[in-house]
Amino acid sequence: MLAVRAFGLDFPNPIGLAAGFDKNAEVPGAMLRMGFGFVEAGTITPRPQSGNPRPRIFRLSEDLGVINRLGFNNGGIEAARENLKQFDARSGLLGLNIGANKTSEDRIADYAAGFEALAVYASYITINISSPNTPNLRDLQHRDELAKLIGSVDDVRKRVKPQCPLLVKIAPDLTEEDQDDIAAVTGSGVIDGLIVSNTTISRPGGLRSTKSHEQGGLSGKPLFDLSTNVLASMYRKVGNKLPIIGVGGVASGADAYKKIRHGATLVQLYSALTYRGPALVTEIKRDLADLLRADGFASVADAIGVDVK
Ligand SMILES: Cc1cc2nc3c(=O)[nH]c(=O)nc-3n(C[C@H](O)[C@H](O)[C@H](O)COP(=O)(O)O)c2cc1C
Repeated sequence: MLAVRAFGLDFPNPIGLAAGFDKNAEVPGAMLRMGFGFVEAGTITPRPQSGNPRPRIFRLSEDLGVINRLGFNNGGIEAARENLKQFDARSGLLGLNIGANKTSEDRIADYAAGFEALAVYASYITINISSPNTPNLRDLQHRDELAKLIGSVDDVRKRVKPQCPLLVKIAPDLTEEDQDDIAAVTGSGVIDGLIVSNTTISRPGGLRSTKSHEQGGLSGKPLFDLSTNVLASMYRKVGNKLPIIGVGGVASGADAYKKIRHGATLVQLYSALTYRGPALVTEIKRDLADLLRADGFASVADAIGVDVK
């Protein structure tokens, strides 16, 4: 009932671990054994970098949210490749999320290098252009830059692993015009899927935590509505061409179901895991299956986008 097919891959269930938990691809096998249908490791940049000064992660406990301004702290491509040698591809589906170094002179070349070095280990590759914690990174979401970036990575893909699905992960803080640009570029046949969304730089009304004014990207429950709205909006624009992974504030089977009904083929989560621990994964899968059944759906595929007009 929970099995789902997307971009040529068969997912045992639609619940994935979002990027940022396993930045250096150290524990993908262990996270798959926790019950996730797929795991996305990264963001990995070509060169190692330490990220922003601490403190850089804040728990908004009263709001069940998290603010982070980590800034792509990671060990770089070579360290990730060493770790990935230990990963048994039979353990399950592994996405690798690639980014650019903060001080890079040529950010597009960083993504091309990331694909070249890491695709061999990946079930799919995600181009992350939506982290708010690397200055100007999100400018790559603009039409011309995005087209150039995707073209460069696709050139490498054709050479090293033509069958590797290529996804783009976007921010929830996009205007309608930004979304149209992204839809035009990603819907033109090169990109295989979208991930909606990364953390938000906005601060939805009603936050109660004293940490809510910290700079960085907000995730968890306060991100749910915004990211689900952008998911539905992108589904309207490209849902007939591109599967979408819905991310942002998922903490229950009902949340995952809502993402699917608003256009998600797959769902990811991270912040809720930090509040609820590993038992959450089994609970979400059980409740999602119950909800699908109760509404008369025989599979996840049947429920995708049914709430999007
Ligand atoms: C501490 C932390 C680190 C993150 N690091 C990354 C990252 O390196 N790359 C990325 O694409 N997203 C990263 N994210 C964003 C998540 O993958 C996800 O898009 C976002 O948190 C929304 O999902 P959630 O509400 O379930 O956490 C990070 C999130 C958190 C909380």
